[in-house]
Amino acid sequence: MTTAVREQIVKLMEVNRRTHDGLTYTLPSPLLYPFQWLWDSCFHAIIYSYFDTDAAEAELNAVCSRPLPSGMLPHIIYHRPPDPTAPAQWGREERGDVIDNAWGTVGTSSITQPCIIALAIRRVYEVTRNKEWLLRLYPIVRAHFDYLENERASTEYSPLLIIVNPDESGEDNSPRFDSTLGLPPQHVAGTHLDSRIHLIRAYAQCNFQVNGCMTDHFSIIDVPFNILYAEDLLHLAALATYLGDTKQAERWIRQSQAVKVALRKHLWKDWYFKSLDTRTGEHIEVATWSHFMPLYGGLLSESEAHDLVTYDLEDSTMFRTKFGLPTTAQNESSYDPVDGFWRGPIWHAPHWFLYHGLKRYGYTKKAEEIKDASMRLIEQSDFYEQYNPHTGEGYGAKNFTWGGLVIDMV
Ligand code: GLC
Repeated sequence: MTTAVREQIVKLMEVNRRTHDGLTYTLPSPLLYPFQWLWDSCFHAIIYSYFDTDAAEAELNAVCSRPLPSGMLPHIIYHRPPDPTAPAQWGREERGDVIDNAWGTVGTSSITQPCIIALAIRRVYEVTRNKEWLLRLYPIVRAHFDYLENERASTEYSPLLIIVNPDESGEDNSPRFDSTLGLPPQHVAGTHLDSRIHLIRAYAQCNFQVNGCMTDHFSIIDVPFNILYAEDLLHLAALATYLGDTKQAERWIRQSQAVKVALRKHLWKDWYFKSLDTRTGEHIEVATWSHFMPLYGGLLSESEAHDLVTYDLEDSTMFRTKFGLPTTAQNESSYDPVDGFWRGPIWHAPHWFLYHGLKRYGYTKKAEEIKDASMRLIEQSDFYEQYNPHTGEGYGAKNFTWGGLVIDMV
């Protein structure tokens, strides 16, 4: 990483940082995303762990500050209401959908996002060794995992977890969710958002009861979500061990193994791990970047990994593009490299997962190629939310923080 890019990252994080009511956190992008998001903040803490551990600790304190009564950490925290006089930048805000509690609860959303929280805490703790801090966050994170295990484990495919809204995957409009939502491969983005908000409205009516309500509308065992859960259980076990809770650590290690076994048993189909719609019992066939997440979670044999990396990743009709890994395979009818959002454009977090997955299997040169592609995107187009895989042009939110993850491609 060049010093210039490192300095740009430090500056970006500083500019996006806010403090309200004694809590300090970082906006993913000040104009478009003026709140705190769960997995974004975990990325932020990992980025901060390289140059500002106070900011890293503060970020995680803030993201753990508003668990729901169930223990679940919500995917958005509105630390302060948006400025009503500000120009409407955000589709959802414009409709008044989010803020007037259509995401469920006042002050936060009612759904969650993928688990990276234990990893983020672990990364910060391993730099600071601040046990007092760890002791404060540990019970909050533990309650979140207890919620997931008790409320979100699928009855039929336990201990795999279900998500109840596409936004819980972090990939809001990924084509993985089209069939469940009854949407064709090509549609207007607003239609997709409407169907997600519609779900939340239905959930609010049954007080967010998981079984017997939410899962009647939407119930997906998503590949990345479950792989991240399995990995984060191991990080949680490490945190428990640091605090001398070895019994609990062993339990979480066993749980992680059980999730990985179940992933293989229920989601492995025709050479890929595929998300599963539990309402129909059918696997989701659309090819997205999630095909590479099993590398991150160490779920593949050496030869399976070899095939994936040698063929799919190198296939210019699927996942090979000039600037790296597109979020949806190019030969899918839903592929849209310009306006697609999660339906084609490159995002930095998938690159970060892929980088670490490739390293895990010893594909160091390919991992470096992904890192170089991420760096080129930043150098050419600055910090954007998404990028065109063929031209590198930046789209969506400006000054978006996820590019900072290149600091952790080491
Ligand atoms: C978009 C992304 C989501 C992210 C949020 C804030 O909704 O799809 O993953 O958490 O923006 O950056």
